[in-house]
Order: sequence, then C-alpha cells, then structure tokens
Amino acid sequence: MHFQGKSFLTISDFNKKEVEYLIDFAIHLKQLKKNNIPHQYLKGQNIALLFEKSSTRTRAAFTVAANDLGAAPEFLGSGDIQLGKKESVTDTAKILGSMFDGLEYRGQSQAVVEELAEHSGVPVWNGLTDASHPTQMIGDFMTIKEEFGTFDGLKLVYSGDGRNNVANSLLVTAAILGIDVTIAAPESLSPEDAYVTLAQEYAKKSGSAVEITSDIKAAVKDANVLYTDVWVSMGEEEHFEERVNTLLPYQVNKALLSEVSENFIFMHCLPAFHDTNTEYGKNVAEEFGIEEMEVTSEVFEADYAKQFEQGENRMHSIKAIMAATNGSLFIPDLN
Ligand code: CP
Ligand code: NVA
Repeated sequence: MHFQGKSFLTISDFNKKEVEYLIDFAIHLKQLKKNNIPHQYLKGQNIALLFEKSSTRTRAAFTVAANDLGAAPEFLGSGDIQLGKKESVTDTAKILGSMFDGLEYRGQSQAVVEELAEHSGVPVWNGLTDASHPTQMIGDFMTIKEEFGTFDGLKLVYSGDGRNNVANSLLVTAAILGIDVTIAAPESLSPEDAYVTLAQEYAKKSGSAVEITSDIKAAVKDANVLYTDVWVSMGEEEHFEERVNTLLPYQVNKALLSEVSENFIFMHCLPAFHDTNTEYGKNVAEEFGIEEMEVTSEVFEADYAKQFEQGENRMHSIKAIMAATNGSLFIPDLN
C-alpha cells in the first residue's frame, strides 16, 4: 500500500497518479462535508501541529480537518516546545512519534521536516518550509480542476518571486501533472537550477512545457492561470525595499491581464498585500509610496480571482492527505 504510513515532505513524494488521486479524493471529501456525511477515517488518533512560523490557513485547515476525521489536533508553537533549542530535532521526533499518530511541521528548514520524518516513525506532513509548500499544491490544483474540469491544455504562469517555496512547488507540480508552466521573475529571483531540472524531467514524461523568463508581458500571453505570491516571504522581512524595486513590473494588475486567455483565473496562496489594511501594507505605502504590492485590489476582487476558493480547499485537501496516509483506507497501487 503506497500511501499508508507515508510522509508528505515535497510534492515529489507522490507520482502523477497519486497526486491526481489526492486531488480527486479532496473533491470527494468536500462533497461529504457539504452534505454532512461523516468521514471519521482517523477516529481516536492524535495529531501534533508544529508551527515555527505563523499561519492562518494551514493551521486552521489541519485543525478542522483533524476534527472532521475524528482525530484530536494539538498545536505546538515555537514558544511552546524545545524543538532544536534545548532538544534536538531527532530526540523531539522520537518523543512526539511515541505519543502522536501524525505530525505537521511548518518552519524554515526542509532538513528539519525530513529529520522529523526519519525519526518519528509516524507520517509527517510539510506545512511549509523555505523550500517548498506541498500541501498548498493539492488544494491549488484541486481548485484548478474544479474551475476547468481538466488539466489538459492548460498554461499556468507564476509572476513574482520565482525562488520562494510556492514558486518551487508550483513549477514541479505543474510539470508532474502535464500543465504548461512559466515562472516569470527577475533574474535575481529566478528558481534554483535544481528545481528547473527536476521540473524538466517530469515535463519530459508528462508532455508539459517548462519556461523560465524575466519577460512577464510575453509570458502572460494565453495564460489560463496567473498565480502570484508575496514579494517578501516569512523570514525575509529585511528585503522589502529591494523586492519592491525589483518586483513592481511583476505586479498583477489590469494592464498585465490584457493578454491572458478568455478562459482565465487568478490565484494567490494568501495572505496577500493588495491594499494598506495590514501593518506591512501601511509601512510599505509610507516608505516606498506604493499601496498595492503583488496584486491590485481591482484584480483581487474580480470574479476570476479564486484565492478564497483556494483557501477553503486547503482544508479539504489536507484532510485527503491525512486520511490517505494515516487512515487505513484501501487505495489501489497507483504506479
Ligand atoms: N497559504 C498559506 O499557507 O496560508 P497560511 O500562511 O495562512 O497558512
Ligand atoms: N511564500 C510565502 C507563502 C505563504 C503561504 C511565505 O513563505 O511567506
């Protein structure tokens, strides 16, 4: 059984059919939830949620998903436990694994989430590291499937900071699924070669086209999905000035959208800076004179903007991931 007991540390942990299965299972679980049909596949389990960085969606999604599956979630924030400070990651993994049935981890280091998986003996789910955001991908491509009904013939363009966790994961996931993918970013913020090579290898098998460019205006042509993320990720807050200067041409605004396909949606993993109703938004407006960063409110509030659907789908998809890897379900071999 390929899913049972498995961790989800990067999107490459699953093959194309398995990723498609998780997406379809998430759509099914969404239907069960909407129709009040119980689905307590993890009844009696305990799930630890380790967060070294802040979160709204991921924390809420894991908590509600665990409750709906019949498991008890326990939040362990960075100030609450010793992880890495007074106790090694390995020792912490052994202890938590002896008490909990599954662990979620959000923090900086991909190596830490891997170490937790290696030593805990239970499934570990990556809730975001500096390198990747795999659970976000299942919810995002679920949203794309809901919108278009298929992945065939689609082109996804990501505009902005091309070497952050979300860009890395989108590049690889689209290539796995056979969706054409373009990362449009300034050269200084292009994806690392390792991700590009990995995506190209998947693209050879799936038939998708992978493109890395700094020419956002050309890239956006015929896009079915235009995706952006914050210019400054968690932990990089000292870079606001440099990013505002480099990334302003990559802002998703009405002028940029003049070339997209008619069959088009805008996506954002959230949180987003599209106005000055946040502390960061206010500071950036005061210091650098721009009131909207990676996306304008006009785009964010349009009908084709699907960021809140994506947000809801985080819950259904995280539920699918936890149930598939820890729920003793019969899942045929999808190799
Ligand atoms: N998209 C996402 O991971 O949101 P949070 O940071 O709120 O969890
Ligand atoms: N790239 C963003 C994603 C937040 C969900 C960050 O790491 O802050």
